[in-house]
Formats: sequence, C-alpha cells, structure tokens
Amino acid sequence: MPSLEQLESTYTQAAAELSKITSGDALEAWERRYLGKKGEITLALRSVGQIAPEERAAFGKRANEIKNALGAAYSEREEAIRQHELAQTLEEGEIDVTLPGRTIPTGGLHPTTQTLRKIYNIWAEMGFQVYRSRDVEDDETNFTLLNIPPHHPARDMWDTFHTTTPGVILRTHTSPGQVRAMHEYGENGTQPIRVILPGMCYRYEQISARSEIQFNQVEGLAVGRNIRLTDLKGTISAFARRMFGPDKRVRFRGSYFPFTEPSMEVDVECVLCGGHGCPMCKYTGWLEIAGCGMVHPVVLENGGYDPREWSGFAFGMGPERMTILLHGIPDIRYFWANDLRFLEQF
Ligand code: DAH
Repeated sequence: MPSLEQLESTYTQAAAELSKITSGDALEAWERRYLGKKGEITLALRSVGQIAPEERAAFGKRANEIKNALGAAYSEREEAIRQHELAQTLEEGEIDVTLPGRTIPTGGLHPTTQTLRKIYNIWAEMGFQVYRSRDVEDDETNFTLLNIPPHHPARDMWDTFHTTTPGVILRTHTSPGQVRAMHEYGENGTQPIRVILPGMCYRYEQISARSEIQFNQVEGLAVGRNIRLTDLKGTISAFARRMFGPDKRVRFRGSYFPFTEPSMEVDVECVLCGGHGCPMCKYTGWLEIAGCGMVHPVVLENGGYDPREWSGFAFGMGPERMTILLHGIPDIRYFWANDLRFLEQF
C-alpha cells in the first residue's frame, strides 16, 4: 500500500535528480520515470483508492501538489536546457573573424591564348581583322584551290586526318581560310582585304617533343592593288620586331609553298643568345617564325580576283612555336597535356 512517507521520499528524489539534469535526453527519461503514464507519481495518484479512507484525502491532496510542483519544475528545467543548448550551438558555429579568408581560385589564360592575343593586337594595329574559318574542311579548299591538285607530290607536305565522309578532312593548315575570306570579303574580287586567320590545325603525325597532332596557326592575307614583295617584307619585319623586341634582326630565306610565288621563310634573331648561337637556335643564331610569300595567281583567281589587277601577300605562323621560343619551353606536348604545373607558370 502506498504511504505518504514513500510519496514524500519519491518527491525529494525526483526533485534532486531534476536539478542535476543538463540534457534534453536525460530530461525526457526523467519525465517518463516520474510523470509519464506509468511514472511513479502518476501511479501513486492512481492508487488513492487503496488508501485507508481516513488518510485518502490528505494523500490525494499531497500527491496532486507534488505532481504540480514537479510539473512546474520540469517546464522550468526544459526551458533552461533549451537556452543552454542554443547558446552552445551558437558558440560552436561562431565565425572566427580573425581567420584568413578562403582564397577563391582564379583561372588563367593558356600560354597559347596569351601569345594569340599578343599576335591579334599587333596585327590589329596594322589594320588586320580576325577571320575565323572552319576546322573541318573539304579536300578541295584545303588543297586544290590552294594550287595543290590531287596526286600532286606537294600534298605529302601535310599528313592529313580524313573523316569517314569522302572529301571531308580536318584542316592541315589555316591557309584554306584564305580562299573563304576572299569570297566573303572580296565582293567578287572588287574589294581589298586584310585579315588574319587564327585557329587549330590537325596533322596525322607521330607525336614528339617537336610535333603535335594539333596546334594553332595564324594565317595572314592582304589583297589589294600594287601590293609588292617589299610590302610583305616590311609588314612582317614590323610584326616580328613588335613581337620579339624592337632591336631584333629579321631575315627572309627563299623557300617553296604551292600557294605563294615567290615563297620565303622568316627568321628572327635568336631571342636567347642574340644571334651568337645556342642549343635553342641549333647554333645558327636564327629562329624560324613563319612561312610567307606573294599569293599565287591561281589562288587569287580561286578567290575571285583577277591576278592581272590584284596582288597580295600571305603568311602562316605557329603561336605554340612562338611561345616555345619566347619562354624556352623544351617540349610542345606540354601545351595540350593539361598539366597545371606547366600551365600555372604563365
Ligand atoms: N600553310 C603553310 C603550312 O602550314 C604555312 C604558310 C606558308 C602559310 C606560307 C602561308 C604562306 O600563307 O604564305 O605549312
């Protein structure tokens, strides 16, 4: 039979335990133990019927008082714990304003892009606009219209990627863009043009330190009346000095390209040794930077111009090669290997 004494001792114990509780979980367990459906106080209240009639009223009154007192103490404790836990999470999640900020990674321009932009700027100052021709070409424009007929041995100069569609290839050089630019800007051979044509070229070659299967070229084309070899030499020399340094010497060597006549190769004084001879220039003192020449009459005609009235010069240069020369890069494969240790140096 429950007694008043027992009830008081349960109360004292419950109150003492409650005062030591600091977590929500422990508080819940405490509530289950004393005030829940089968809690000790709840059961005591329910057992009032078993108490001797003369003590019943006093027991019931006291049990109710205790229940209310513990209930109020519980609510108070609950609120205190809630506040404490909130303060704790705030403290843990506090922003430490003395910590250095996280650096936001910024991208950089690929070394070839940097060189290309330098090239664009120099030619833009000389009145050349950028014309973007296609990477996927037809055999006719890549070769035949450039005065390289089918089966002509000159085609061996360019190892070609063919597609499964007959006659459709990846351009082996930017020169086919010359013909497209002449048709697009020349207005049936009546307007002069000055363009550079940058872009990727593709060659079916063994990849090595010196050659890749893809690389950029920047083609140049000027068509007008009375354009002469001296214009070509002066313009290219001006470009080379702006690109490599105002004091650099430039030289032209006779060469052969099917789409120019005469054809030349352009050398600039070695940027590393100043012309004395070093491994970079293979002890010649000169670095080759471009091919060039006067546009072949057949090519002018294929572009819609009458070669008896119009003339022009063209050139083709390799920006990766120029980057290699400018920075002393030992291997062309670095350019497309996507190795950040290389790329981040620029
Ligand atoms: N297309 C040539 C090549 O890829 C480069 C070239 C040489 C372009 C002479 C020209 C030029 O326009 O006149 O080897």
